[in-house]
Amino acid sequence: MIDIQRSPNSKISNTNFDNLVFGQVFTDHMMECDFKDGEWQTPVIKPYGPLSLEPSARVFHYGQAVFEGMKAFKDAEDKVWLFRPDQNFERINKSSVRLAIPEFPKEYFFNALEELLKLDKDWIKKGFGNSLYIRPFVIATEAGVSASAAKEYKFMIICSPAQAYYSGEVRVKFSEKFSRAADGGVGFAKAAGNYGAQFYPTNLAKEEGFQQIIWTDANTHDYLEEAGTMNIFFRIGDKLVTAPTNDRILDGVTRKSVLTLAEEFNIETEVRRVSVKEIIEAAENGELKEMFGSGTATVINPIVGFGHKDKKFDLPKLEDSYAKFFKDKLMKIQYNEAEDKFGWRYEVK
Ligand SMILES: Cc1ncc(COP(=O)(O)O)c(C=O)c1O
Repeated sequence: MIDIQRSPNSKISNTNFDNLVFGQVFTDHMMECDFKDGEWQTPVIKPYGPLSLEPSARVFHYGQAVFEGMKAFKDAEDKVWLFRPDQNFERINKSSVRLAIPEFPKEYFFNALEELLKLDKDWIKKGFGNSLYIRPFVIATEAGVSASAAKEYKFMIICSPAQAYYSGEVRVKFSEKFSRAADGGVGFAKAAGNYGAQFYPTNLAKEEGFQQIIWTDANTHDYLEEAGTMNIFFRIGDKLVTAPTNDRILDGVTRKSVLTLAEEFNIETEVRRVSVKEIIEAAENGELKEMFGSGTATVINPIVGFGHKDKKFDLPKLEDSYAKFFKDKLMKIQYNEAEDKFGWRYEVK
């Protein structure tokens, strides 16, 4: 059961779909479901709009909040598809468990998501690169500033139309001082605080001419882990190398899809710790051919250069890059233009 309250008027005719800034425009509806008296209540789909919360709500004080990022795509025949949504559903509950938030029921998630997408399907534009970014999130709403897990929460889903994401040339800095996550911490969770804590070091890196930081392990800063919102791959010779996921690194859906495709196309991969020293040596002797990030927002994001301490390195520009190969393969599956061998597509009917 879902309570659906349709918006009396749509904002869609006032939206310029040719000039979208990522995450700025939202569709007509949102999903809201409250947790109280020990259970999740009936999900409600209603017009997108502001929330009213007590200033003492736990989320504002203790950061008890988790979120997800996923996308819907429209194919040439106007069918709407999600990409591996089961993975996002499982991950938000994994994040919730770590933040002492009650898990959300699977049927509520999928029923509400499908109803929401059906109502707002005109916001999903056809064409390679166009999509609807979907942001499920959970916040602790219980009033009262005592530092303990709340008894009341809101699970919400909001949606934002997105165009192909081009971030310009990306240069990254290998972190030598700041850390994103530590052993036993919350790095593997999409906890809001993980992101808030990255802004200051990222701003410092930007002042030095880098767009992003590659986080290194908190103990030694000798091993490369992941970027702010992307997992990271290195191409050394023709081998694809990436760090294993652990309790500091997010288990990215795009990352695991790249690894599966690499296996399918006989690209040799190694999932193992990657040291800063090794990557600098490989860059110096010409073995490092590519670096790229993987994540829902950009799919695959090529990296043109990196810096460590006072050294800077440029990567070669390749015609037949792995980055381009994987982006094309993944997007064709997402847009229903290629066979879905692994059962990754999910149709919203
Ligand atoms: C810290 C972090 N790493 C990696 C990723 C990539 O994950 P996915 O491919 O599931 O979007 C994300 C984005 O969700 C992220 O926030």
